[in-house]
Amino acid sequence: MTAPMPQFPAGFRWGVSTSAYQIEGAVDADGRGPSIWDTFAHSPGRVVDGSTGDVACDHYHRHRADVALLSGLGVDAYRFSVAWPRVQPSGSGPVNAAGLDFYDRLVDDLLAHGIDPVATLYHWDLPQPLEDSGGWLARDTAHRFAAYADLVAARLGDRVRLWITLNEPFIHMSLGYGMGVHAPGRMLLFDAFPVAHHQLLGHGLAVAALRTRTTSPVAVANNYSPVRVLGDTDADRAAGVAYEALHNRLFTDPLLGRGYPDGTVTDPSLVHDGDLAAIAAPIDVLGVNYYNPTGVRAPADDSPLPFDLVPLDGYPRTAFDWPVAPDGLHELLGWLHRSYGDALPPIEITESGCAYDDAPGPDGRVHDPDRIAYLDGHLRAVRAALDDGVDVRGYFVWSLLDNWEWAEGFTKRFGLVHVDYASQARTPKSSYAWLRDVIAAARRGPAR
Ligand code: FCB
Repeated sequence: MTAPMPQFPAGFRWGVSTSAYQIEGAVDADGRGPSIWDTFAHSPGRVVDGSTGDVACDHYHRHRADVALLSGLGVDAYRFSVAWPRVQPSGSGPVNAAGLDFYDRLVDDLLAHGIDPVATLYHWDLPQPLEDSGGWLARDTAHRFAAYADLVAARLGDRVRLWITLNEPFIHMSLGYGMGVHAPGRMLLFDAFPVAHHQLLGHGLAVAALRTRTTSPVAVANNYSPVRVLGDTDADRAAGVAYEALHNRLFTDPLLGRGYPDGTVTDPSLVHDGDLAAIAAPIDVLGVNYYNPTGVRAPADDSPLPFDLVPLDGYPRTAFDWPVAPDGLHELLGWLHRSYGDALPPIEITESGCAYDDAPGPDGRVHDPDRIAYLDGHLRAVRAALDDGVDVRGYFVWSLLDNWEWAEGFTKRFGLVHVDYASQARTPKSSYAWLRDVIAAARRGPAR
């Protein structure tokens, strides 16, 4: 038993998140084109269990049942992503009407259940033809992204309640183009900077396009990790500053009108006149995806990086070996509030969650007390940040369903709902019932 959850402000938005490639499957259905994740997952040795997103949770065919699960949970909002290769298979040019129809049906079904559709336009599944022309290393991809945002909003702009341009551009740049452990699998280290600039430019141009199509608020969903410097030398502190610039500031300072943090622009010729103004197009909400803090110290002499990443001791750990650190969320929200002041838009926590090795017990039920404790702690951290005056408007759990976790394949389960990938049976876990009760109590308001 956990203590009763403290009250959240009236109108606080309760939601869950997913992304297209991780749940939809149906990769060849109805005219969808290939994405960089299809290519990557089908390359031997890239994904730990050799699996792909070809079928995933088969959500493309089971979306009505999944919306019923959302409805049973009682969420206010559902954050999904639109697969660019499904609606515009070559990344430019003709629209695939059948692909857009899928999202049209999903949005209508959500609205029919009283759930706000929150659409992410890009959750890492770049159409392969665009990667073949340079991917996010190419400036043209920013323009292609804005054109794609425009065509999606032309169809859904009247019904989507919150638009998110990019998901975690830092993770996409660093794991996809810097370290090569995510698609498209490039290992450019700091030569991946063009990927930062072109994603940011694409975001800014997409915001401008969205404004012509919708009056709904527009956001970006950034991954943040509060930095803990281990060691007390000047070199350790400098490593902390360098890591913070890369992970937390690179995709925030320019968005909020401050230009690039010192030391992050490796090639100034990429930044054309007018780019910084386009990138700083006002946004209405900052999406914060939080999983864990990062330990940092000075690098070894022969390191190619200006910091070393060090495991943080003293925390319980998830099945991903990530520390369970709700205090990091409180710290992060305070850091954003202090660092950006009046320039900071209202925040929504667009992802927060954990992986555990959940399996049905002999009674067929899935008990996940660790996830309940995780969510309980992180919601209390949000409450503490609200008490400090940080304007947090919502909290989205990652994720509704167990799903295909990128390079970890099917080995990491993040869902409130267990998925048996052989039968596609969905079994709500005990965390689903717990969250349903938390949301219902929040809606009832304070006990009298
Ligand atoms: C985030 C991603 C999301 C999922 C979670 C666990 O970085 O946005 O797709 O992989 O991590």
